[in-house]
Amino acid sequence: MANFSNLYSRYYDLLYQDKDYLGEFQYVQNHIAAFAKIPVKSVLDIGCGTGKTLKLFKEAGYAVAGVDLSEGMLSAARQYLGQEEDLVCARAADFKFEKKFDVITSLFHVLSYQTENGELEKVFANAAQHLAEGGVFLFDFWYGPAVLSDLPTTRTKKLENAEIKVTRQTTPIMHYNDNIVEVNFDLAI
Ligand SMILES: C[S@@+](CC[C@H](N)C(=O)[O-])C[C@H]1O[C@@H](n2cnc3c(N)ncnc32)[C@H](O)[C@@H]1O
Repeated sequence: MANFSNLYSRYYDLLYQDKDYLGEFQYVQNHIAAFAKIPVKSVLDIGCGTGKTLKLFKEAGYAVAGVDLSEGMLSAARQYLGQEEDLVCARAADFKFEKKFDVITSLFHVLSYQTENGELEKVFANAAQHLAEGGVFLFDFWYGPAVLSDLPTTRTKKLENAEIKVTRQTTPIMHYNDNIVEVNFDLAI
């Protein structure tokens, strides 16, 4: 299970300022156009984080909703989106909305944080429960054979803005028999 603490959420956007959210959004839109069998007006993002993807959907005219386990990430999302409603702190496996969505996304390998098969099955069942008929659920994940042929390594990333400098050291520990990579972050701010 991921632990995106309030502290980490404060530096998340800085740490991922090089992520191409717009490119990802265009890629996702192409897939929606290819696979959705209904007109798409609403989007739910599971593991929405600080709301970067939802903001692009919102600006494109979609009604947006998000779920995240971390209150810190969600409060950044609420501020970034200028929206309070439909941004819910809950687990992917058991969030509940009283409506369905035309598209559900879960991006930047949120599903890879579900390291138990039972939990993963609940996430799929819950997504299915909230997906309108003819809609699409789009997600990405760490592909096991690729991880094993290109093993995660210890890395250091340094970033700064006008106010702070952040150094993050990432130390992966492989649990081969469990098909799990434990990724530890050490932050110096
Ligand atoms: C790498 S971040 C990705 C955030 C966002 N999708 C993005 O592209 O920037 C992973 C997010 O998934 C959330 N998350 C991880 N496991 C979760 C779970 N079981 N239920 C809900 N959110 C979860 C974390 O709190 C974190 O905000």
